[in-house]
Amino acid sequence: MASPRAECGWRARWLSFGLMSIAALVLAAGRGERLGDALPKAFVPLAGRPLLLRSLDALAAVPEIDRLVLVVAPGDRKRLGDLEAELAALPGLAPPVDGGSERQHSVRAGMAALPDDVELVVVHDAARCLVRPEDVSRVIAEARRHGAAILAAPVRDTIKRVRDGQVIETPDRASCWAAQTPQVFRTEVLREALDRADEEGFVGTDDAQIVERLGVAVRVVPGPASNRKLTFREDFDAAERWLASGSGGGTGS
Ligand code: CTP
Ligand code: MG
Repeated sequence: MASPRAECGWRARWLSFGLMSIAALVLAAGRGERLGDALPKAFVPLAGRPLLLRSLDALAAVPEIDRLVLVVAPGDRKRLGDLEAELAALPGLAPPVDGGSERQHSVRAGMAALPDDVELVVVHDAARCLVRPEDVSRVIAEARRHGAAILAAPVRDTIKRVRDGQVIETPDRASCWAAQTPQVFRTEVLREALDRADEEGFVGTDDAQIVERLGVAVRVVPGPASNRKLTFREDFDAAERWLASGSGGGTGS
């Protein structure tokens, strides 16, 4: 049986976990070039509600998250103003932050806006607006324990590494996972990873990649295929069919 002292330590840790300050960055500063809509992708409605609002809805429903930070392109401020009433209804939403030209720059801008007491940061693409709050909670739980965790789905296809039109490697499919967001990190870990990436002039396509470069282990939490990133028009069509089928639980998340 645990000694009273050990039990006390465990209890204190558990309590501090409960009080851990957790912020979510919702990245919405991209242009959506592959979608090719007149609106920036995060502002394009899916079944009537813009992606960024759907992503914020999902994160606002995660009980562990205290604060939401939306990162938008400076040129989209006015567009954001048109959503003022919807944004005002979101609990814990901080003032919006101007993003940068690359996703990683937008992450850095969001991090710069966080107060010092934030211990865990949840980074999420506005374009993955079908994320389920319960999956976000599972990634948070894993990152609390290990410092870094991402949602990911096992790949269905066999993956080939290709150079100059020629296959150079076929990695074992069982070891291949498609990274999703949210990706959750201890704040100081992600700050250090961003600093290192800047120093080395490295721009990653996700946040875990720059954390991995520090030698920090990143845990994988299995996520549903429905948490796909909406990139092309056909992704919007499939997502609307999925919502219409009732799979989204009527919450849009
Ligand atoms: N993003 C961002 N800042 C950037 C680039 C992307 O905040 N400079 C955000 C996007 O708004 C999106 C998420 O990162 O929610 C994932 O990026 P992606 O799906 O590539 O979206 P876009 O960059 O908007 O699309 P595209 O690459 O087709 O232009
Ligand atoms: Mg992009």
